[in-house]
Amino acid sequence: MKIISTPIELKEYFKNSNKTLGFVPTMGALHEGHITLIKEARKANEIVVVSIFVNPTQFLKGEDLDKYPRKDDADKKICELSGVDVLFLPEAASIYSDDEVSILAPKVRGFVLEGFSRPGHFNGVLTVVMKLLNIVNPTRAYFGKKDAQQLNLISLMVKQFFMSVEVIGVDTVRENDGLALSSRNIYLTVKERQEALKISASLQCAAKMLTQKIVNSQVIIQKMREHLAPLEIFYVEILNRDFEIIKEVELANSIILVEVKVGKTRLIDNIWL
Ligand code: PAF
Repeated sequence: MKIISTPIELKEYFKNSNKTLGFVPTMGALHEGHITLIKEARKANEIVVVSIFVNPTQFLKGEDLDKYPRKDDADKKICELSGVDVLFLPEAASIYSDDEVSILAPKVRGFVLEGFSRPGHFNGVLTVVMKLLNIVNPTRAYFGKKDAQQLNLISLMVKQFFMSVEVIGVDTVRENDGLALSSRNIYLTVKERQEALKISASLQCAAKMLTQKIVNSQVIIQKMREHLAPLEIFYVEILNRDFEIIKEVELANSIILVEVKVGKTRLIDNIWL
């Protein structure tokens, strides 16, 4: 596995390549969810590139940038064992400069749900993803469906900026007890981890209601909120795949999304229907 740490070097490395390239951008602290993204990239592409960059612009003031888990050695091992060809590990100084052109998240879709509780977060995500896609120039880029809003906004950016990369959403990986894998799970105490199971339980409850032909969004949301109590709820929402609020669940076109705080840790989860 080749390790590259500057955009110039990476561009140079792939200058004459005409191989298909699958790209998995990450912020490190890799877990089984990331490994699944890498596996998907491995299946469909000749070359696989993973980036690890804890992007400062997507953290708001007071968020966990300094405390964000960093596991460089373990991450390198995971990439090597997963068959990654190139690991891109840039420093912030090679990605950002003092006076930057801005990429702004759309005013509606970028500032609801997670974008409402973290205003500006998606400006940072879209900016760094635009930069990384331009540096790596992949055939396909892989993102987890757990970050549904992020996936939706990146797909929108790629479409609206006429970029040629194919954006692939990959299913969420869960622990046996249902907890969605997240780099932030390591912040949870044993008790909080137990409380966090309410999240997947609330989504399972919604899925069960659908099998009972209950499709009214408000009825489902209310039941989910009861399941999530007493956790602090940021949102429970039912949207179509265009991220518009819908009154009734439309099968094969809906996402049920949750964001809660468990202890000091924000956790998101969702199911795609
Ligand atoms: O999902 C993440 O890990 C990050 O938001 C991403 C896409 C790597 C951008 O920093």
